[in-house]
Amino acid sequence: MQLTFPKNFWWGAATSGPQSEGRFHKPHANMFDYWYDTQPQDFYEFVGPDTASDFYHSFRADIQLMKAAGLNSLRTSIQWSRLIADFETATPDPDGVRFYNALIDELLANQITPIINLNHFDLPIELYQRYHGWENKHVTDLFAAYAEQCFKLFGDRVTNWFTFNEPLVMVDGQYLSQYQYPKLVDGHKAVQVAYNLSLASAKAIAKYRQLDQHNQGKIGIILNLAPIYPATQEPADLAAAHMADLWVNQLFLGPAIKGQFAPELVAMLRQDGVLWESTPDELALIQAQTIDQLGVNYYQPLRVQRPDVSPDSLMAWRPSKYYRGYQLPGRVMNLDKGWEIYPRGLYDIAITIRDQYDNIPWYVSENGIGVHQEERFLDAEGLINDAYRIKFMAQHLAYLHQGIAAGTNCHGYHVWTPIDCWSWANAYRNRYGLIRNEIHTQTKTLKRSAYWFHDLSQNNGFSL
Ligand code: NOJ
Repeated sequence: MQLTFPKNFWWGAATSGPQSEGRFHKPHANMFDYWYDTQPQDFYEFVGPDTASDFYHSFRADIQLMKAAGLNSLRTSIQWSRLIADFETATPDPDGVRFYNALIDELLANQITPIINLNHFDLPIELYQRYHGWENKHVTDLFAAYAEQCFKLFGDRVTNWFTFNEPLVMVDGQYLSQYQYPKLVDGHKAVQVAYNLSLASAKAIAKYRQLDQHNQGKIGIILNLAPIYPATQEPADLAAAHMADLWVNQLFLGPAIKGQFAPELVAMLRQDGVLWESTPDELALIQAQTIDQLGVNYYQPLRVQRPDVSPDSLMAWRPSKYYRGYQLPGRVMNLDKGWEIYPRGLYDIAITIRDQYDNIPWYVSENGIGVHQEERFLDAEGLINDAYRIKFMAQHLAYLHQGIAAGTNCHGYHVWTPIDCWSWANAYRNRYGLIRNEIHTQTKTLKRSAYWFHDLSQNNGFSL
């Protein structure tokens, strides 16, 4: 059976500035640069962001490879720490401007639509040291000024913008679960940062609309959503699933699409004594500046059951006070990463967006499979024979297609990632690319999945 997707579907891939470019010619360090410089032992095999996949130097050749893999769109991010010389005045750095101009022009010259994200976890370290980063509302103003600079510099050619990628990961990784610098455990700060990120997004969106480019362009946010499944239908597990949904999905979906935070979430945080500080003006801004389109990163579902600790025994506030994730016995697994593979979850997300989020236009902004030691799968012709990746994409696309047939308003699918890239503290442990990168020589070669993706894009679909 042939599955055909809507016209002008975005067939593409996603990466980010800090994970691809390398640190060349940057006026400032971001939090990851600083973290690596001060605690390199936190990074897999001590590999940091210094070179990444050398996109700064090799973007022209890389774009040819992306073209060969059939990409008609690429999402990457601008690094605040590369583009801006002075954060208070949002004065741009000439090298940064030159680089992003050249990159955008090269993509367009190769018929690849640039989709630009403004923040991919990479706060300039100076803003953390001076203001405590996203804990401080002044940083939300600096972000809006940086965003405005980006719209002015590149908005004549870029018409699809996103403010943040996976803001929940910053909240969780930096303030609750310690997998990103500054590795704090502080529920109070976590909740304020969550609010401030929604506020910063709304402020940036307001700037975009003031510049009167709105008629031609669209702006949104990229969220990592998880379909949530309770362990049983018993009330305690159902309640846990509901609380998980409030925190994991609704925390950012609410302000972004409905212009407000779920009243139940606010009540819960207030009762726990960790509710953020907000003003009526800020809430009015959030209400006014909802998004035009949504990006959804989907990797795995979240299976939850009732928590096993009494709330009083927790030292610091954590959302896990209300639910506990668990792994389904006998689940289909990613080869190495321990993540469950559940393609139907994408259909469930599609239907949730249709029914609970105004059927807003959206696209799959990330989906993919990370594999350790992928050279295991080199074939006789010297290509990575990543049949598991092809199967992974095909299964997810089949469910996405069902969602589209059921009326969800999805206009694209992006795989994470075009070229094997640096993955934060995991560095190069898990490879996600359609294109292999030998990191010691920066030799890049299409994998079998890249040829499959090329045909998928050419045919605007595939046969099941
Ligand atoms: C989501 C993030 O946006 C990206 O930065 C990361 O590398 C991938 N997931 C893979 O884990």
